[in-house]
Amino acid sequence: MTELPKTEPTRRTFLKNSTAAVVGSTLTTGLVPKTVHAEGDDIIKVGLIGCGGRGSSAAGNAMRADPNVKVTALADMFAGPLKSTQSVLSRQFPNQYAVEDENCLVGFDAYKEMMLSDVDVVLLCTPPHFRPAHLKAAIEAGKHVFCEKPVAVDGPGVRSVLETTKKAKEKNLTIVSGLCWRYDLGVKAVMQQIQDGAIGDIQTIQENYLTGGLWHRTREADWTEMEYQVRNWLYFTWLSGDHIVEQHIHSLDKAMWLMGDKPPARCFGLGGRQSRTEEKWGHIFDHFAICYEWENGVKTFAFTRQQSGCHNDVEDYVVGTKGKASVLKNHVVGDGGEWKFEGQKPSMYDLEHKALFEGLRSGNIINNGEYMSYSTLMAIMGREACYTGKQITWDEMMNSTVDLSPPSYEWGDVKIPKVSIPGRA
Ligand SMILES: NC(=O)c1ccc[n+]([C@@H]2O[C@H](COP(=O)([O-])OP(=O)(O)OC[C@H]3O[C@@H](n4cnc5c(N)ncnc54)[C@H](O)[C@@H]3O)[C@@H](O)[C@H]2O)c1
Repeated sequence: MTELPKTEPTRRTFLKNSTAAVVGSTLTTGLVPKTVHAEGDDIIKVGLIGCGGRGSSAAGNAMRADPNVKVTALADMFAGPLKSTQSVLSRQFPNQYAVEDENCLVGFDAYKEMMLSDVDVVLLCTPPHFRPAHLKAAIEAGKHVFCEKPVAVDGPGVRSVLETTKKAKEKNLTIVSGLCWRYDLGVKAVMQQIQDGAIGDIQTIQENYLTGGLWHRTREADWTEMEYQVRNWLYFTWLSGDHIVEQHIHSLDKAMWLMGDKPPARCFGLGGRQSRTEEKWGHIFDHFAICYEWENGVKTFAFTRQQSGCHNDVEDYVVGTKGKASVLKNHVVGDGGEWKFEGQKPSMYDLEHKALFEGLRSGNIINNGEYMSYSTLMAIMGREACYTGKQITWDEMMNSTVDLSPPSYEWGDVKIPKVSIPGRA
């Protein structure tokens, strides 16, 4: 992977960023990273990297999850989203939002400065491309981590995250994954039913993530191609992994969970783009259909689409030898009858942060690093099968050396890859 960052921000970047409170230069360097041994009422300091929609929500989840959490540092590539996050969080959490101006960090380097600060926990919420480098830096600096999904966009990125996961275990540092359905009470209860045999042995799984399109940020005259791509990261595979990795990972992660987190042996698939063909949509596909097969013959049929005006459905359908289940509907029908989860369903986003902080305070450190890496690789494997039109094995994908990083991180030109054509890639 390209080392992050390769260059200092240019003068133009500095000028643009100088509207932020402070541009990442004043955090004291050389602080010894602190490992939390928080007990009782101790304050836990949290820093957010990636102040977009998910990042600002995650900071809110963290503060709701534990009244003694304070958000004390913010980092983003750009000043604008950081300022919006400042204004939202300071209004919503006047007693827990405690970010001094000098702890507002902007630019490619902002994450490095965050690691030198005295925060105990970092929330990694940037576009996925940056996750392996940010996670590595966080664990090296002795920080506990909340790590949004997906965790990489290519094989080298996944291998890096697996390495870092091992390091986190050695150092007793937390990695809680943003694969949020693993923390949802209804989904957990259905998974338990299935594991307890309510539908017999799993035969097939069907994963649907059929939705409309997402946002697009209009190009501005003074943006370089790099800035345009980072701001429209969804539509560039090196940044997002394509929507199968960025969004459908939620479904593929549930298939993995159902299969005991054992990876599929191989897959093939079909995909392309039909409705998002203009230049503004980058080079990603708008639909994928994949057949994953495990060594024991179980198959997952996975469908994902981002096309507006079509049939929508987001659900996991599981068929077993004695019944069937719809995971998101929390519904099971087996030879023992019908079962539906009727319990309370607090926000899964709050629950994942509750688990993180309770783990920290009790010493039961959570590490979700392996499953978040494997589910990410399953999604990358599906993408590659569809881009190339070939059958891809897990081992090929796990050993892949294809690195999607740009040659350098500079505010200049970045090549826009051609849309993949199966059979020719
Ligand atoms: N678990 C969920 O349900 C869920 C929901 C939405 C998004 N997500 C994930 O969260 C992540 C962020 O998504 P989002 O919707 O908030 O996107 P977003 O575009 O709203 O926010 C991303 C932010 O990261 C900043 N950024 C980009 N590169 C950076 C870098 N190198 N260093 C620091 N900041 C950088 C951007 O400027 C932006 O403010 C993605 O991985 C996405 O898949 C998860």
